[in-house]
Amino acid sequence: MLKYKTVKEVQAALKAVREKKQTIGFVPTMGALHEGHLALVKEAMEDNDFVVVSIFVNPIQFNNKVDLEKYPRVIEQDIKLLEEVGCDLLFYPEFEEMYPDGEPPEVDYNVNGLDKVLEGAFRPGHFSGVITVVKRLFEIIAPDRAYFGMKDYQQLLIINTFVKNYNIPVEIVPVPTEREEDGLALSSRNRLLKPEHRREATLLYEVLKRAKIRSGFQTVEDLKRDVVRKFKKAKYAELEYFELVDLYTLKPIVTWVQSSHVIALIAAKVGDVRLIDNMIIYM
Ligand code: PAJ
Repeated sequence: MLKYKTVKEVQAALKAVREKKQTIGFVPTMGALHEGHLALVKEAMEDNDFVVVSIFVNPIQFNNKVDLEKYPRVIEQDIKLLEEVGCDLLFYPEFEEMYPDGEPPEVDYNVNGLDKVLEGAFRPGHFSGVITVVKRLFEIIAPDRAYFGMKDYQQLLIINTFVKNYNIPVEIVPVPTEREEDGLALSSRNRLLKPEHRREATLLYEVLKRAKIRSGFQTVEDLKRDVVRKFKKAKYAELEYFELVDLYTLKPIVTWVQSSHVIALIAAKVGDVRLIDNMIIYM
């Protein structure tokens, strides 16, 4: 696997790839890689001749300083995993390489308002930071396809809307969420959970699964009330939001017949680790 920290090296290597008329698949990450990330890499390897992974803990998408400081960094382990799976090139720049002019300002990109709700409402500036770094990475790598996990559904929808609205020539490919055996969605932050918190973290998946079973039987309002009640009973888990929304507009639904494609999204803190998850209820 080729490993580079500079834009110049990456672009030289990719020039040679493109001259051979090979397609480039790209997987942006913040490292602390797990099977969820590797599912994206494997999918990219199936669809493309050459696969690039980036690892960059992007400070401008963290609205919480402690969260940024605590974010796990295990580059040696990550390199080993990427070599095992057969990634072709790793780009792992330092801050100055990504942002030579210093921290870029917050930009209000037009993504049809999708960045204002749910995660956007709870994490001000987060999506501006995500779009800024993804835009920069797309400019450096110019991939044919880029892979994003359903785990961060709102991020995936926003990036898809961003490339359409700004005519960026890259195909966005969604990849299903990888889960632990007990249902907990894999996340780099899971490794920060204390054992007793880890056990209770399955509550996110449990209420999503229940929502899927109950949809159509219980009113939307009653279902949401039930979820709030379940979290009130929990010892460590604290609910931030649980919403049932249209899959494409992210507008909340009030009745089940209101939309033919509905997704449930949840965010909760378990101890001091913030987790998100989602499940398509029907489509
Ligand atoms: P990160 O959290 O490292 O995730 C990188 C990619 O892996 C994202 O597309 C995410 O949705 C996907 N992913 C994470 N957990 C997953 C799981 N359990 N199953 C499937 N896919 C999963 O998301 C980011 O980084 C950043 O915001 C980034 C896009 C890199 C911009 O900084």
